[in-house]
Amino acid sequence: MDNSKIEELINNMTIEEKLAQMTQLSPVFFGVEPDIDLTGPMEELNISPADLPNIGSTLNYFGAEKLIHLQKEYTEKNPHHIPLLFMADVIHGYKTIFPIPLAMSCSFNPENYKNASAVAASESSASGIHLTFSPMSDLVRDPRWGRVMESPGEDPYLNCIMTEAAVQGFQGDDPKQKGKIASCIKHFAGYGASEGGRDYNWVELSENTLRQFYLPSYKAALDAGAKMVMTSFNVINGVPSSANKKLFQDILRNEWKFNGCTISDFAAVDETIINGLSANSEEAAKNSIEAGVDIEMMSTHYINCGKQLVEDGKLSMELIDRAVRNILNLKNDLGLFENPFKDADPEEEKRLHLCKHHRELARQAARQSAVLLKNNGLLPLKPGTKIGIAGPFADSTDTSGGWALAADRNTSSLSLALQERGFSVVTAMSGPLGSMEDQIFDIEDQTPQAEKAFADCDLILAAVGENPRDTGEACSRAYLRLSPNQEKLIRKMKEAGKPVVTVVFSGRPLELKPILPYTDALLQAWFLGTESASGLTDILSGDYNPSGRLAMSFPQTVGQIPVYYNHYRTGRPYYGQKDHYVSKYLDCPNEPLFPFGYGLSYSHVEYSDFSVRCEEGNVSAEITVTNNSSVSTLETVQLYIHDCVASVVRPVKELKGFQQEELKPGEKKTVRFKITKDMLKFYNQKLEYVFEPGEFEIMIGKNSQDVNTKRIWIN
Ligand code: BGC
Repeated sequence: MDNSKIEELINNMTIEEKLAQMTQLSPVFFGVEPDIDLTGPMEELNISPADLPNIGSTLNYFGAEKLIHLQKEYTEKNPHHIPLLFMADVIHGYKTIFPIPLAMSCSFNPENYKNASAVAASESSASGIHLTFSPMSDLVRDPRWGRVMESPGEDPYLNCIMTEAAVQGFQGDDPKQKGKIASCIKHFAGYGASEGGRDYNWVELSENTLRQFYLPSYKAALDAGAKMVMTSFNVINGVPSSANKKLFQDILRNEWKFNGCTISDFAAVDETIINGLSANSEEAAKNSIEAGVDIEMMSTHYINCGKQLVEDGKLSMELIDRAVRNILNLKNDLGLFENPFKDADPEEEKRLHLCKHHRELARQAARQSAVLLKNNGLLPLKPGTKIGIAGPFADSTDTSGGWALAADRNTSSLSLALQERGFSVVTAMSGPLGSMEDQIFDIEDQTPQAEKAFADCDLILAAVGENPRDTGEACSRAYLRLSPNQEKLIRKMKEAGKPVVTVVFSGRPLELKPILPYTDALLQAWFLGTESASGLTDILSGDYNPSGRLAMSFPQTVGQIPVYYNHYRTGRPYYGQKDHYVSKYLDCPNEPLFPFGYGLSYSHVEYSDFSVRCEEGNVSAEITVTNNSSVSTLETVQLYIHDCVASVVRPVKELKGFQQEELKPGEKKTVRFKITKDMLKFYNQKLEYVFEPGEFEIMIGKNSQDVNTKRIWIN
């Protein structure tokens, strides 16, 4: 349909019809059950049956047959035959579940996130979905916040690369194409900085910090073509995002020239009343529409008050038309006026869901996303090892993590996968871990029985972590240690004289220091999805040489949080000197337990011959990496830069590039990075994005702490 037809359509619509397009409801209002628990209050929304055929979109209703039926019924009833837009949270897979986004970011391989999103698009579009509320690109520094699992991590550069890959995977060149869906970037903006890591909490960020660290990944998604932007729940610098003109007008529309569609988060327009920004329903509608929020998700102030506001002259009709235009354009971009069902097809569902190819991609992502944090030589397991496996994740198949809404339970557990790989396995103390929400949060202490059962095992594998229901939205935690009996299990097994391998399943960095002395090897497994068991077994058995690197720092203890690598330098930095009046903790190092970019493999890779050059104004850095081991490895060579003196204080280092190199045993490669002025730009005191000539430290290394450094003057 060409644009003039959209204008014609808008001209023919009543204000009631327009406001209904601007409203998104759960399918429950259409007389069908939603497929998931709703993530917010389902209050009386005061929707009249006459409004239903005009409603613009639904959320989280899946399945080709169901959606074809709903679409047929309501497109027929709609006076203009405007199709519904089916939106859903398809986050890290649909039926084939990939690792949680934080884990995929740890693969430092954007291909994984792109594959995950492309697979999710093809599987969910066959089930009738048109748009996903993904990716979430909120930068995070606080593992107390449960939603770190959905984020690409703490670094702006890595977040941009991963976010871009996700958008490309979902949308391809054009979301209208078969097997593609539109992508909605969220949550704009700064949701990851919720104070104290408590979900939905307020956010205070200076504009410099907002622009330097938090905004780039949303912008990267839009540059990659994301069709929609979702507001965040938080109040930012005094104004709720969902009524924030500075974010949605000044930055998004005027500065970034975004001409797509925007949507509130779940009932977030309503929450502007609870926040105390809007006095009542009318003000809530006015504030959010004027800010430029086109669709109100799961509250109904627009539809209930919009008409009166216009009639009273309090709201301009142009703003309503602007929002409706954005919504109809999106439907048109997806080809829904010609084909309202898009790719919904029960036969395709059967063909695509959990097909072999999708599972292979998920396994590749799973094994690249786990991060080896400690290894005293116990891993990889020797063939024929007799393993005593314990802990709540030994036999569990619940390893997808949050937002796997349409997923079926995984078929394999770690104990099963290890047996299938030829290991002899004895299981004990593998009962379930209660959830914090249910006030349980522990496993039954069966350490004496486990000790007995494992008497003739060569080693113990403790599969521990946090309940998947305790990560994700509304799952903030103030304590980050493993439950007492899980820590006890690890300690007791070690004290019984057995070597211990600990595999940690979690959606966030946990406090692992207390178990470190009792574990000989430590593998951070996150929640790896459908192929969790096979991916982890690939690593444990040595079929895959681990290559994951941390996308988020692991704290020594909760009191250090936020602890992240790209912080500013104080005037009294601590380098281990004896002075009292320096910036340090008396009872804990300043550094995290495991820093950003950190991860081990079964190989030793040596870095040598580091040089930085400036030739005819072109700056480059290179380093040689040598695999001094007998196994092939995938090494992530990381480039960091520090601006030594500038008109505003600059972070001690910032990731500016990375390259993954396959190195065969004994192989040596030279890795070269071009350093451009764009990489060196920052926001000055006037918030101009500038390059300032001067001295820079160029660092290349294995992780954010272990780097080779050279200084160079760049004009
Ligand atoms: C979450 C969003 C999600 C939405 C719809 C909200 O609670 O914050 O990320 O997309 O629900 O399910």
